[in-house]
Amino acid sequence: MEIAKVAVVGLGSMGSGIAQLAVEAGFETVGRELTPELGEKAKAQITRFLARKVEKGQLDAGADEAAVARLSLTTDFADLADCDLVIEAAFESLEVKQQLFSELEAVVRPDAILASNTSALSVTEIASLTERPERVVGMHFFNPAPLMPLVEIVRAERTDEQVFETAYAFAERLGKQPIRCNDTPGFVVNRILIPLLNDCVRVLDEAGVSVEDLDKAMKFGAGWPMGPATLADLVGLDIHVHASEALYEKLREPRMAPPPRLARMATAGKLGRKSGEGFYRYD
Ligand code: 3HC
Repeated sequence: MEIAKVAVVGLGSMGSGIAQLAVEAGFETVGRELTPELGEKAKAQITRFLARKVEKGQLDAGADEAAVARLSLTTDFADLADCDLVIEAAFESLEVKQQLFSELEAVVRPDAILASNTSALSVTEIASLTERPERVVGMHFFNPAPLMPLVEIVRAERTDEQVFETAYAFAERLGKQPIRCNDTPGFVVNRILIPLLNDCVRVLDEAGVSVEDLDKAMKFGAGWPMGPATLADLVGLDIHVHASEALYEKLREPRMAPPPRLARMATAGKLGRKSGEGFYRYD
């Protein structure tokens, strides 16, 4: 199936990154947010990042404005009616996503593909209340989406093979390095990364190491591009805790459960970069 027009539902940090990739790759893109202000905020961020790419010589002059012109904003699902592919990047709650997919199904064409960017929920469960679960697929991008090459293309229990391969080919058109995988808890990366980050946080309490030294240890002793505390702050502690809980619920392995320190921080609103404070402070 040919993808010409794309929609991204939810323009938080992941959704706006995905919308940025789509417009940069030349796709007409509709971004849907709950309020016009949230949509405009995402558009301003996309505009800023693309202008910076021009400054750095990574994009031709004028290509940034042309890309931004491909983005339209809406709060109304009806404006997604002629999209070939909808990528959902909304709040990580099964109920929210199930409801959203039902609303989407009511407006899009019967052959439109519905993709979820969920980090740790089951794509099969998200698809389970739809009338056509065979058109639902997982497309899991990594944070920050414009910079991280990987996209996990997740085959849910009833995903149609052609839908699956179209999603894979679309990720390649975005310039990404997709992989194919099944709908198992955490897919590939989060199944490994979530317990690993949890272990890193437990080490903070056990080894009497400072946050800075923990980061230094993993950067310079294990070759990580950024230390675990910096990475958790980037991902968002609320997102991490939620993914951790979702994995623990399915797998019941103690390492999957969020360490109390992380749960406390998330509850207190220390969410990392986006809230201005996590393991570090951000101005
Ligand atoms: N578009 C364009 N450019 C962007 C951008 C965007 N949306 N966001 C940031 N940038 C730019 C920055 O402006 C900066 O450029 P500038 O300083 O020249 O203005 C540049 O990208 C990044 O600069 P850095 O010097 O920080 O770049 P690095 O070489 O250090 O790489 C990184 C940054 C790719 C984030 C690297 O540190 C890295 O790979 N970190 C690990 C990230 C990771 O593991 N992510 C996965 C998290 S897990 C996940 O997402 C799963 C989820 O389900 C929880």
